[in-house]
Amino acid sequence: MNDPACQFRQETGMSSPVSRHGIPDFGDEDYRLWSELLERRTGITVPSERKTFLQTKIWSRMSELGLSRFSDYWDLVTRQGVDGRLEWAQLVDRLTVHETSFFRHKPSYELVQETLHRAFSSAPDILHYRIWSVSCATGEEAWSLAMVADQCAANYPQKKLYYGVIGTDVSRSAIALAQQGIYDSRHMESIPAKMRSYLQPVGKNLISVIAPLRKRVAFGYFNLLNLEAAATVRYDLIYCHNVLIYFSRETRLKILDNLIRYLKKDGILILGPTDISAWQHPKMVRLPAKRTLSYQLKNDV
Ligand SMILES: C[S@@+](CC[C@H](N)C(=O)[O-])C[C@H]1O[C@@H](n2cnc3c(N)ncnc32)[C@H](O)[C@@H]1O
Repeated sequence: MNDPACQFRQETGMSSPVSRHGIPDFGDEDYRLWSELLERRTGITVPSERKTFLQTKIWSRMSELGLSRFSDYWDLVTRQGVDGRLEWAQLVDRLTVHETSFFRHKPSYELVQETLHRAFSSAPDILHYRIWSVSCATGEEAWSLAMVADQCAANYPQKKLYYGVIGTDVSRSAIALAQQGIYDSRHMESIPAKMRSYLQPVGKNLISVIAPLRKRVAFGYFNLLNLEAAATVRYDLIYCHNVLIYFSRETRLKILDNLIRYLKKDGILILGPTDISAWQHPKMVRLPAKRTLSYQLKNDV
């Protein structure tokens, strides 16, 4: 009874660790507690059919730390202070899917290109244009957007076009890789031929984003659940692909409500085509661009 872990399990209802195939049992109560913690902190929902995924990912991290009881690991990730925060970041990296690629959804990039041409051609002599790559994982999306913007801007050499892309993600390790801007050279295949000069070979089988493009892109940590804060910076274009799918519909709606507060007048929101179905918003008008899920902020709001 003096064992704090035992007392903790009784308080939280977390099951006792009973080894099976080397992995401690992960009962329904364990699933409920861990999935609720994940949803509360990141918005990500893990449906009960994916209970084994949750168990395996947590367990793989626990084994690295030499822990054998879920309750001990719970104690660590929920601890106040730096230790708890760092460990939570490690776990989030295991539980989030960072799949991405350059120019992942062609129709959306075509729309970005059209939008930028329109904005740049109709701009007065000076234009400030900001793009946000929301949940950019390891950065390929943000770099792709910067390549499109840079190519568009080259058509208007007489204008002063200050354009920039900010890429954010909740995974700190993904953001660290994005900042490096170094990728396997096999990724070159997914980059349109006319954009390939934005990458140069470095070392064996690696490519790196060239310096002039790096000046256009910045990366940072951002949790989409924290969008409720005042929108101090506003964007002309928000590109949000393949992240809303991990949230419940209720959370998706809340995130979208908040995201549009970050749009400038006439700003464009481009979502992944399967990110949400039947979404309408009184402040947004759906764009007719084929095979995209894109909206513009109404100019009378
Ligand atoms: C599948 S990747 C999408 C990457 C890129 N947008 C694309 O379409 O190729 C999903 C990303 O969403 C991030 N993510 C998950 N929950 C998040 C949250 N609460 N806030 C910000 N990013 C989150 C993950 O870390 C992951 O990098």
